[in-house]
Amino acid sequence: MSEWENKIKSKKIVVGVLGLGYVGLPLVREFTSAGLRVVGFDIDQKKVDTLNSGRSIIKHVPHSDVAKMKESGLFEATSDMSRIRKADSVIICVPTPLTANREPDMQYIVKSSETISKYLQKGQLISLESTTYPGTTQEVMIPILETSGLKAGRDFHVAFSPEREDPGNKQFTTKTIPKVVGGLTKKCLEMACQMYGAAINRIVPVSTLEVAEATKILENVYRCINIAMVNELKMVFDRMGIDVWEVIESAKTKPFGFSPFYPGPGLGGHCIPIDPFYLTWKARQYGMATRFIELAGEINTNMPHYVIQKTMDALNEKKKSLRGSKVLLLGLAYKKDIDDLRESPSIELIELLQEKGAIVDYNDPYVPQSIKQRQHDLQMKSKKLSEKMLASYDVVLISTDHSCYDYDWIVKNSKLVVDSRNATAKVSSGREIIVKA
Ligand SMILES: NC(=O)c1ccc[n+]([C@@H]2O[C@H](COP(=O)([O-])OP(=O)(O)OC[C@H]3O[C@@H](n4cnc5c(N)ncnc54)[C@H](O)[C@@H]3O)[C@@H](O)[C@H]2O)c1
Repeated sequence: MSEWENKIKSKKIVVGVLGLGYVGLPLVREFTSAGLRVVGFDIDQKKVDTLNSGRSIIKHVPHSDVAKMKESGLFEATSDMSRIRKADSVIICVPTPLTANREPDMQYIVKSSETISKYLQKGQLISLESTTYPGTTQEVMIPILETSGLKAGRDFHVAFSPEREDPGNKQFTTKTIPKVVGGLTKKCLEMACQMYGAAINRIVPVSTLEVAEATKILENVYRCINIAMVNELKMVFDRMGIDVWEVIESAKTKPFGFSPFYPGPGLGGHCIPIDPFYLTWKARQYGMATRFIELAGEINTNMPHYVIQKTMDALNEKKKSLRGSKVLLLGLAYKKDIDDLRESPSIELIELLQEKGAIVDYNDPYVPQSIKQRQHDLQMKSKKLSEKMLASYDVVLISTDHSCYDYDWIVKNSKLVVDSRNATAKVSSGREIIVKA
């Protein structure tokens, strides 16, 4: 047994997780549950303090889990990056957004690599998890790490293992989602597989760093394109008087060759609206166009406009214009049962409604007030739902289908409901006021 394997088996390894967000924190939880010691690194001192006080920073990792991690004595968060020296590995989970020109914004990967290079030690394993274009680890991360004077694959080890976190998914957790791992060398791959294998049920080794990077991109492009396809079909079938959601339910009874995807008011989240464009950017360097991705992007970004048009048509039927109408938007988060606002189409819907002169409020049990985003700052607070309150709006627009909403009650007490998620599918009475969008 190698010294590394022995260290893992005897639980003497110290795992560093850099970036304690939606991806980093669940990973910390898995390693500590497996009995390994974890030091969490973050530049956000408030996050560090909150975690060290035993409280969580994201809804789907409960406070009790963070308290347990702390009580076990296995986890500590810190903003003192010099402690990287003492970790056996550092797993990087920092954001990878797009710039204003929709190009990969590598600043977080660059900065965290620069930080690690200052404290890098012989024998350490550095694993990148952030979603990015194929080639990032070799072309961006390794050259920065090597400014330390140490050589990748000889003095320190490098892996790429894409995060497949799906916040709010009750069926799969970080532990049960198979983990794809690529290494710079055979030894890097072996070490990374052993480390992740201590906490995660199934490890899927692949031959190169680039295959691991491209795997994540394929998964997200697949979702992005399929969602665009059902969004387009939603609009086409609507013209034909056919309900796309019923069609999908029917098609998914086919036991092979069909995976259901669902239409919505537009794409949201940190991944699907963004990651495919990392590949588009990289493909250009090879003189290639990613036409499927561009087309899917075009259709998906048009969806909020489609929902607004349907809302205007529904009001028009009632002899009302959108200008001056009171609109209540339900669900600010980008998908159901989570508190994440990143790239949420609800934000765009609110801005479009306001641009057209509507008076807009929102309710979201998970988002008591809007949080400033890179390009948006709504500065709004969630309004408490009541029968009287619902009745005071000209239209209630369902943007996110949170499970905790009582849709029968909402329909019963509203004047008009525009449903962009088929959330009211099971509502039996009052259907005449529902318009699907
Ligand atoms: N959120 C998801 O569901 C999800 C799923 C799969 C993959 N991913 C990918 O995982 C990566 C991380 O996403 P996330 O959602 O966890 O982001 P996040 O914004 O929730 O967390 C990132 C954390 O990194 C910290 N950070 C930024 N720069 C740092 C630095 N230089 N040093 C230390 N800490 C730093 C931030 O303060 C923040 O706490 C992204 O590439 C994303 O595409 C996310």
